[in-house]
Amino acid sequence: MNIPNHVAIILDGNGRWAKKKGMPRNYGHIQGAKNLEVIIEEAHNLGIKYLTVYAFSTENWNRPKEEVDGLMKLLRNYMKTCLKTASKNRMSVRVIGDKSRLDDDIQKRIAELENLTRDYEGIHLQIAINYGGRDEIRRCVQTLTQKVCSGEITSDKITEELISENLDTAGIPDPDLLIRTCKELRISNFLLWQLAYSEFYFTEVEWPDFDKAELMKAIEAYNNRNRKFGNVSEQ
Ligand code: FPP
Repeated sequence: MNIPNHVAIILDGNGRWAKKKGMPRNYGHIQGAKNLEVIIEEAHNLGIKYLTVYAFSTENWNRPKEEVDGLMKLLRNYMKTCLKTASKNRMSVRVIGDKSRLDDDIQKRIAELENLTRDYEGIHLQIAINYGGRDEIRRCVQTLTQKVCSGEITSDKITEELISENLDTAGIPDPDLLIRTCKELRISNFLLWQLAYSEFYFTEVEWPDFDKAELMKAIEAYNNRNRKFGNVSEQ
């Protein structure tokens, strides 16, 4: 079995999962966060080296205040508990997205977690928070424009590589496989630049129910597609 080096996941369906059980949406998010711990462990055991998950998009601020507050509380707590998972799995953690809009204490916890785990090589977890693919590209354009205006580079030095190096995912290989749970067949502004050549896998399973068997199904589907090109990417 060819294990993808980098798997990206759109964690969708927490709300629908909770509703089916007659529970509030935030209960679904809590179970979703617990399930992330399970999948990190499984991914690590399988030898997946990079895992990138969409936890909070730039559009998610438009949800009801109670839900946004619940998600922020969950992320705040996660930054603490994640340290245990990180040392167990020798996992480095990086948060991608515009962190400047997050509360100061969350920004501080993120910085601590990133610093404490930066040398771990078991698995690399990227958590997208206040992340939007278009916003990431916009920020990259701003950075490069400033470099041109200050004379640090000339515009002909703007290559695809330079753009990649100025995105939040700098230094991280592009995803081989994107998984989206819970029926929707779109990428919702996730990793727009980085997903250019990735395989997409969509499942009806809601995120809190996405377990090891479901992850294996996604990897099998990825293997079947790769075989069509003799295990050589179409790229
Ligand atoms: C989509 O489900 C999910 C989210 C908007 C948040 C994802 C967050 C988590 C899994 C938990 C927090 C993550 C970490 C890293 C601690 P939805 O609410 O859109 O579900 P629905 O489409 O069924 O309404």
